[in-house]
Amino acid sequence: MDSRQSLLLTVRALTSVLDAADPFTRGRSLRISRYAVRIARELGVPEHEWADIELGALLHDLGRNAILHDVVQSPRPLDAGERAVVQTHPTIGYAMLKDIPGLEAAAEIVWTHHERPDGAGYPRGIPADQIPVGARIVMVCAAYDAMTEDRPYRRGLSSRAACEELRRCTGEQFFPEVVNAFVQLHDSGRLWEAFSREELEIWVSRGDLAAA
Ligand SMILES: [Fe+2]
Repeated sequence: MDSRQSLLLTVRALTSVLDAADPFTRGRSLRISRYAVRIARELGVPEHEWADIELGALLHDLGRNAILHDVVQSPRPLDAGERAVVQTHPTIGYAMLKDIPGLEAAAEIVWTHHERPDGAGYPRGIPADQIPVGARIVMVCAAYDAMTEDRPYRRGLSSRAACEELRRCTGEQFFPEVVNAFVQLHDSGRLWEAFSREELEIWVSRGDLAAA
């Protein structure tokens, strides 16, 4: 096994442990990484970039682990001050990863996954052309996953409603080609082709698959 594969397996294991520690995020990084690689394939991203996109997707919210748990796991919507603290998580994650050999491209995805095509994202508000394709993909997958999950203060949206919300925010918040690929894969059921039967039973509702 080469060192690249070893790095990927290590990051998969570590992120599954981090996710499992929080009832709100169980399985989240793995789901988002599966969606992200599937979309990269659909968009024709060269195969040698898929591992970087998977690593970036697995690690995108790593910085949240460095923020006080009672803020990150708040049972109610955050106030402005708390939101400002949480919005430091891409910078924290980038600082944690950027000097690790083999994780340079993943660190860039982590840093830019809350930027937006209209330049109104955070932490830096950079323009669209500086946002790497991996981050363009991860921001859509992470938003879909967050919208469809229940929180203590709200019910999650249906997958159909979440896709409609992605479409509504296209252009300002999300890149159109990524949303198009995501919704097409969702509507045809191919979004879940890399999931095992067990994962489908845990994570994907019958309604989602019936819609396909
Ligand atoms: Fe994030």
